[in-house]
Amino acid sequence: MTAVHHDSAARLWMLSTPNSCYVLRLDDQGRLRHLHWGAPLTPDQAAALPYVLDVATNFDGELAEEYPGEGGARFGVPALRVRYADGSRTTVWDHTGHTAEDGRLTLAFRERHGPLALELHYRVHPDSDAVERRALVRHDGTDGEPVLLQQVAAARWTLPLRADYRLSHVTGAWSAENQLTRGPLARAETVLTSRRGITGHQVNPWVAVDAGDAGEEHGEVWSSALAWSGSWRITVERTVHGLVAATHTAGHEGPAVTLAPGGTWETPVSVGVYAADGFGGASRAWHSYARSHVLPRPAELRPVLYNSWEATGFDVGEQGQRELARRAAALGVELFVMDDGWFGARKDDSAGLGDWTPAPDRFPDGLAPLAAEVRRLGMRFGLWVEPEMVNPDSDLYRAHPDWVLHEQGRPRTELRNQLVLNFARPEVAAWAHDWLDRLVREHGVDHLKWDMNRVFTEAGHPGDPDADRLWHDHVRAVYALMDRLRSDHPGLRIEACSGGGGRTDLGILARTDQVWASDNTDALDRIAVQHGYGQVYPPGTMGAWVTDSPNPLTGRALPLEFRFHLAMTGALGIGGDLTAWSEDELARAAELVARYKRIRPVVQHGRLYRLADAVQYVHGPEVVLVAWRLARPHGAPVVPLRMAGLDPLARYRDLDTGELHHGAVLTARGLTTGLTRDHSSRLLHLRQES
Ligand code: DGJ
Repeated sequence: MTAVHHDSAARLWMLSTPNSCYVLRLDDQGRLRHLHWGAPLTPDQAAALPYVLDVATNFDGELAEEYPGEGGARFGVPALRVRYADGSRTTVWDHTGHTAEDGRLTLAFRERHGPLALELHYRVHPDSDAVERRALVRHDGTDGEPVLLQQVAAARWTLPLRADYRLSHVTGAWSAENQLTRGPLARAETVLTSRRGITGHQVNPWVAVDAGDAGEEHGEVWSSALAWSGSWRITVERTVHGLVAATHTAGHEGPAVTLAPGGTWETPVSVGVYAADGFGGASRAWHSYARSHVLPRPAELRPVLYNSWEATGFDVGEQGQRELARRAAALGVELFVMDDGWFGARKDDSAGLGDWTPAPDRFPDGLAPLAAEVRRLGMRFGLWVEPEMVNPDSDLYRAHPDWVLHEQGRPRTELRNQLVLNFARPEVAAWAHDWLDRLVREHGVDHLKWDMNRVFTEAGHPGDPDADRLWHDHVRAVYALMDRLRSDHPGLRIEACSGGGGRTDLGILARTDQVWASDNTDALDRIAVQHGYGQVYPPGTMGAWVTDSPNPLTGRALPLEFRFHLAMTGALGIGGDLTAWSEDELARAAELVARYKRIRPVVQHGRLYRLADAVQYVHGPEVVLVAWRLARPHGAPVVPLRMAGLDPLARYRDLDTGELHHGAVLTARGLTTGLTRDHSSRLLHLRQES
């Protein structure tokens, strides 16, 4: 079956993925109706689909429209909100044509009363169950009035009718990102949003809805995510009649932009995944989609990195960094990253941001000697940067106080003693490119940890009559800068960071190699952070460090092995003060780093199964299991760990002990983990016998 099927008689379009299908149809009034998103159908079956949500009474008209505007008997969440110069908002869209090729479908419309054109873009891939969508609005008038765009959704995802619904998403805070919440979906408009100019720690731009009957490995799940790193909004509406739809928009409510004659406005991509095999199946579909169609370098085996932040804070200097680098190299670290504090007058967070030259008192000969030493030790060299920020106490701010987001005559709110540079100004983006390009070129920098430690306030752009554009243009300029640096420096890696995981989304993942998932490195707290991260984003992109015990943030002491095992479920890093680790700890750490290198293809590229107090990865014939034990009252039963994703007919050899296990036994009865002490952990590496 072709990926995009068009039935001209029925005025119907069907997008097919390996395990799902998506059906749209023009109704007799020419409105684009959503008919189906779920299990695969044949074209004949799709043509027989009824318009399921036709509960349009005079009182509460309700249509499953694919991309509703305003006007008419519409009372739900609009995908598109515009205001013409004469104040009218009603739009009536006449279908003008479509194109379909190579898994792409574009549906074109013309507004009956005004100069606007609308394109709805869809894309599917032969190896993925993801449906990609975006929208484009064009002002086709040549000398008419501009039109105000108040909302242009990337997509509205409509669900089929079910008796009940549950909503899953993540909430959080700095150092407590990605806490999964799952509960009844209110008969209301549930708004998940960031008004901060960044993706945000508080909630992440994805939702999953099920009928209340899905589990980790069974049941239907409809999930959707917005690929955008600025403010955003996902409104999940559920009406009394059962219509459920999630509308995804870049930007929060309020800011609006004008579309001048000849202008176009394009949304970022919103992606939907239907899975019939539970939340675990949905996550695996997301990971596989991200690896095949989002990540710039999916096949890379993420290097084991060392990061200096928790060891030194801002107190970086050449001798100290050399010592850490020497110890890191001895552990088997492959990439050494010097964090904050290496530039300008940066001795704490009060000064120096924006002055990107090595601090002369700490690096009297510049960074070259340290970079050379790191390479001599056999590691790649990485640096922390925060290009979008400035401390008011900096030479940059003294020279260009107007470069920051601000409103004329209003306060400039400082957070962490810093202000946001307005990347919507071309000269600011050009300045950032200039110094970053030079830094990377001069020092052969292999890795940038790109941080972003504060959110937007007073987001004005004096002199620009369309100032609200900066909410979007800033993000696009950051994307363009990352893209340009990557293309000019093909070996360069970028790690996305925003005070930990504040900028985690599919938009940033399209131009970075990994994400610093949280500043919280306590392995126990990390279990929840990582559980939430992996719902959508692949474990191979999830930076996870082993740090000191007791943990500097939580004060909790945990065994070295436990800290390692939890960090080994993502892209392993080490962030502790290695000068304080004992010889025994360093020796054990070196063994665990070596072990990680053996399992990392499975962890980073495999299929993830979430088990009770364990995660499991399957990659070809290899299986990795990381199991842990939380604090438990004495006498609580210790139950075997039932594994998943194994071939029940196959046998699996333990690569450490040589022991043979039956897939059927590991699945049906489970593995005796032997974890009898609180905060003990176990790593199992199996290979399927051929
Ligand atoms: C916030 C990051 O999340 C930390 O890892 C560290 O890089 C600091 N910023 C440095 O200021």
